[in-house]
Amino acid sequence: GHDVMSADQIVLDDAEAIARQAADFLLEQALAAKDVFRVALSGGSTPKRLYALMADPDYAARFPWGRVQFFFGDDRFVPADSPDSNRGMVQSILFSRVPAPADAVFPMPDQGDPDAAAWAYEASLKTVYGAEALEAGRPLFDVVFLGLGENGHTASLFPRQPVLEERTRWVAPCVPDDAPHTRLTLTYPAIASSRFVLFLVTGASKAEVYARVRAGDPAEPASHITSEGRIEWLVDAAAAGEVVS
Ligand code: 6PG
Repeated sequence: GHDVMSADQIVLDDAEAIARQAADFLLEQALAAKDVFRVALSGGSTPKRLYALMADPDYAARFPWGRVQFFFGDDRFVPADSPDSNRGMVQSILFSRVPAPADAVFPMPDQGDPDAAAWAYEASLKTVYGAEALEAGRPLFDVVFLGLGENGHTASLFPRQPVLEERTRWVAPCVPDDAPHTRLTLTYPAIASSRFVLFLVTGASKAEVYARVRAGDPAEPASHITSEGRIEWLVDAAAAGEVVS
């Protein structure tokens, strides 16, 4: 099988292996942390297997639920019972099955005005962070999970949208022109305030965009993700372009 490693890319056989590697990284780092450990979760379909693994009794028994806080990298501005809600997805696959304290999970608000909701989520982040401005050397997040869309978006940083220019706000609305629903998303500077950004990318449909992002194509929003810590790409063979069908 695959176990190809370069500085910041790990290529594994398939989506199952990617989810296992991501779960292992998270457990290892959460256990190593001395204090509160903050994670930003991603949405979409790829991380579902990761969340299912985290809810597995063997994994859940080892995970330090009591000192991990969970945030969302993005969400659709829809009620939690919508099939498009990341909050609802993570609740049903993960949080309904593990002993995470209720006050350790910070879903993005989904009611009222999206701009006000983005400010409200930013206010929650500032409270847990303990400062009004991000400080270099003191990351907001320990781990940020991200995915990659076929149009180069990550979190809900969609092509051509004003949120790509945001350098001050930590959270902002985004109205994609080629995908349903208004979204709320972490901004580039909020994601950059991290110890570890972990992208999960699987499937042949991502091979072309993944190659462009790896090459640094500036047209792809994912190309502009930075971290004051480390960025790692967990990619299956199909997305890495290693499977020819
Ligand atoms: C979401 C995301 C988004 C996602 C990509 C890839 O809420 O949809 O956070 O950025 O990671 O669209 O989605 P898939 O994993 O479904 O391909």
